Amino acid sequence: MCGIVGYIGEKNSIPILIEGLKRLEYRGYDSAGIGVISNERKETRVIKSLGKVSLLEDKVEQTSIDASSLGIAHTRWATHGEPSVVNAHPHFNKEETLYLVHNGIIENHTEIKAKLSKDGYEFVSETDTEVLVHLFDSLMKKGNSLLKSVQIGLSEVRGTYGISVISKNEPDKIVVAKKGSPLVIGIGDGEHYVASDVNALIGHTSRCVYLDDGEIVEITKDKFVASTIDDKDIKKEVHEISVELDKISKGDYPHYMLKEIFEQVNSVRDSFRGRILMSEGTAKLGGIERIAERLANSKRLLLSACGTSWHAGLVGEYMLEQFTGIPVEVDYASEFRYRNPIVDRNDSMFFISQSGETADTLAAMKEAKRRDALILGLCNVVGSTIARESEAGVYVHAGPEIGVASTKAFTSQLVVFALISVLIGRKRHLSLIDGQEILRELEALPKKIEKILKLNDQIEAIAEKFVDAKNFLYLGRGYNFPVALEGALKMKEISYIHAEGYPAAEMKHGPIALIDENMPVVFIAPKDSVYDKVITNIEEVKARKGKIIAIASENDNEIDKLVDYSIKIPDTIRMLMPILSVIPLQLLAYHVAVKRGLNVDQPRNLAKSVTVE
Ligand code: F6R
Repeated sequence: MCGIVGYIGEKNSIPILIEGLKRLEYRGYDSAGIGVISNERKETRVIKSLGKVSLLEDKVEQTSIDASSLGIAHTRWATHGEPSVVNAHPHFNKEETLYLVHNGIIENHTEIKAKLSKDGYEFVSETDTEVLVHLFDSLMKKGNSLLKSVQIGLSEVRGTYGISVISKNEPDKIVVAKKGSPLVIGIGDGEHYVASDVNALIGHTSRCVYLDDGEIVEITKDKFVASTIDDKDIKKEVHEISVELDKISKGDYPHYMLKEIFEQVNSVRDSFRGRILMSEGTAKLGGIERIAERLANSKRLLLSACGTSWHAGLVGEYMLEQFTGIPVEVDYASEFRYRNPIVDRNDSMFFISQSGETADTLAAMKEAKRRDALILGLCNVVGSTIARESEAGVYVHAGPEIGVASTKAFTSQLVVFALISVLIGRKRHLSLIDGQEILRELEALPKKIEKILKLNDQIEAIAEKFVDAKNFLYLGRGYNFPVALEGALKMKEISYIHAEGYPAAEMKHGPIALIDENMPVVFIAPKDSVYDKVITNIEEVKARKGKIIAIASENDNEIDKLVDYSIKIPDTIRMLMPILSVIPLQLLAYHVAVKRGLNVDQPRNLAKSVTVE
């Protein structure tokens, strides 16, 4: 949420900052801005724009700006204050000598503002961020260096922040600090980059340093010096960035979301590649090998996440309970801390997050740490905060996911849960043969996904019929109940059509009242052990004239007599079915949204990485 970019070196920073913002735009897109200091005259210059980065780019192109090798930039997802030019970042002091960009929330901004107002500071924006710039300015005016001012100032601040600050009075450095919101420094030759995540660094450098909470770094073009906010020197480890540029481009696809849906043939394969030990009927997961025994002996397995990752957790619950025999509970990370959760050292707790930065998931993780549970991360973004702060974990290896609606990360999370279920199951009572069957079915998935993707035109034609729908109901049982939730989430978040997912049998307990000839009902109805029961539910909807779309098994010809539209997909074992059955639902939501003329990659009010609670 909110993207930060910074550059210091020999090159002109402006194109680098704009390009970086474009790559981080999925983090927020209601307004954007850049602030630079010119090389010759050391003058500050700020340009801000409402809306997308492309509008900022147009504005920058129409403005004459001196070459500047030092600058910071920001793309915003509004928390305090509506999207507007004045609320956009960078924020600056009255004399325009100090620029600052911020991701996070300053909780005690009202108190700080009151104090600074007494000292004569005037505030022009409605943001919480603006207090930081005046706070640092007041400290610089007392004779402190930029670094010291940020350091002292932050000691008064409560809340979360990833910040980058530059000053006309020290025009050879960027000062950055982190608490709760991600920041990474890219290391080049005679240059440094700052970014909210590594996507903005790809193609510029392959070396980076991830900041940890409570750290502050002074960056010049040739070096960076890290310390804690309370002034202790620290040494930072340099990491390699392994993502290539083509992985974060749209290629020939009209949208990232469609590209990522189609990538699932490979992303699913990447998630199990090198992790299958067929002869032993088990999985090899390097990140949890060390603690695998403790995991297998856990009293309970607890899963916590938000949104789509929470849906993956629900499927994970079914898998883990079926194959490990250990009791499993799934929690919304955003709720976990607001009760008094009974968690102790005998529990193992998985935190599932595509981005690895979701503030609610991180907060839940901290709470579980306090209660001594074994903390495991299940993340997609390598080097993300949740991945780094877990005791052990498994990367899902879906590759960069840029479309705001999560697709390929979900199917990869399910692959990883299947592998973990086999690994723990084999340490308990899962037989060799059963383990091998799961692994063989996993290996067969990419070909089956290829087949499903060939249905894209058929699904697009079905979508055409529902462009003007006002509501959608999604129903599934057992393993396919979480898929119903996920299908509904995809539909509502990109098409803005109200959609709800329910366990199919729950329909009779309320939602059935909604059904009439205007209600599209999507059933996930593969031929599995609950098929007959789902067919009964289909009959109930048909009797009330609902319009039925069924995701069904490819050999099921009977279902066509009952439903209005059927999308036939290959079969697999029950536990893996969600990996296949969700794909038509992703495509359905995609096509409905596109036909409604909406921006599926950047739906309104959303951002990819939700770094505020
Ligand atoms: C939905 C979606 C969100 C995320 C949620 C958690 O398509 O993308 O619901 O799943 O914000 O994000 P991560 O997985 O990054 O923790």
